[in-house]
Amino acid sequence: MKKITFILLFASFSHAYSQKTQGLALTPPLGWNSWNTFQTNINEQLVKDIADVMVSSGMKDAGYEYLVLDDGWMAMERDKNGNLVADPKKFPHGIKAVADYVHSKGLKFGLYNCAGTKTCAGYPGTRGYEYQDARYYAAHDVDYLKFDWCNTEGINAKEAYTTMSKALATTGRPIVFSMCEWGQNKPWEWAENVGHLWRTTGDISNIFAGTKDMGTWHALGVLKIIDLQKGLRKYAGPGHWNDPDMLEVGNGLTEAENRAHFSMWCMLAAPLIAGNDLRNMSTETKNILINKDAIAVDQDKMGIEGFAYAEKDSVETWLKPLQNGDWAVCFLNRSTHPVSFEMNWKEKPIFDSLSKASLDAEKNSYQIFNIWSKKTEGTTNHTFKATVGAHDVVMLRLKKEN
Ligand code: GLA
Repeated sequence: MKKITFILLFASFSHAYSQKTQGLALTPPLGWNSWNTFQTNINEQLVKDIADVMVSSGMKDAGYEYLVLDDGWMAMERDKNGNLVADPKKFPHGIKAVADYVHSKGLKFGLYNCAGTKTCAGYPGTRGYEYQDARYYAAHDVDYLKFDWCNTEGINAKEAYTTMSKALATTGRPIVFSMCEWGQNKPWEWAENVGHLWRTTGDISNIFAGTKDMGTWHALGVLKIIDLQKGLRKYAGPGHWNDPDMLEVGNGLTEAENRAHFSMWCMLAAPLIAGNDLRNMSTETKNILINKDAIAVDQDKMGIEGFAYAEKDSVETWLKPLQNGDWAVCFLNRSTHPVSFEMNWKEKPIFDSLSKASLDAEKNSYQIFNIWSKKTEGTTNHTFKATVGAHDVVMLRLKKEN
């Protein structure tokens, strides 16, 4: 009897340390990451400026919380004890000073490393230093770790990410674990208790359609990434999200494309990690990034990823069930010309077998709120008619009337 109790106790104890820190990222994380604009050209002043503007631009109020430094924050070598070292030129006061500054603004701070022997940009990787690096992050008050997959030849992804996840959990500091192995090892099938988010694809680029030739690889446009999310929605939920990569809003897309990209990331319950230079973004870009009604779709507590419901004349209709019987609806125009469309809500009831939510305009009436124009456009008792611009969206919230 005693022996059994001991075994049970041991099993539950080891279980506690065999998985990620729970209770984090219960809605998709919002933040900013340095990579898409700055690559490795980052430094202390940039972090301070970005933290300041996250507050002054209204991004913090809109929910953006994590300021994450991507590749390039480290010196080329570890110190003689094997500890990571921040690049002394870029960060003359060290990483803790930067983390303190970010925290003083009411934000959270994140860093990047890689499961391999070196990061993608050639800085020291974590392979063999998982627990030591986790202690470094905890000691430097890091709240978020993005963990990449370069220079990992021959290692097993599930094991590598699980080791790092355990190492972070063992520190006792709540650290969001962002897995970035580009969807190569189907993390959605095994990472629910390993990471809080996992990349589903290769890297995004600031193009809407097609791919961009990067020499040895192809970066993906917004539409390609959307297409690659097919079949993945059942794996996402509170605390474990599909990550279709960081935002390219404000990085050269047209205003319509920025809006469409952002809206679709919200429909996908994706992490919203801005990647533009917040210090000089246009008003249009800012207003897209801080649209509270779009963000509310992303952040809906049910945590159900949206799905493609129909497609006609290059316009896809996406639906996302929300709390209280509401629905988000997004008409995405993939073509380069405007398209007129209509939606007869009463044509047939829609049932989502994943969430068990139904959109039944015969049984219920929904008020139609346009998330971008901010206008109420009648109810679902009437057929909805609109024109959606090239590479643009019409995004609605259907509010269930009792
Ligand atoms: C990989 C990741 C990117 C970025 C770079 C940094 O390509 O997918 O998001 O972190 O590495 O080198």
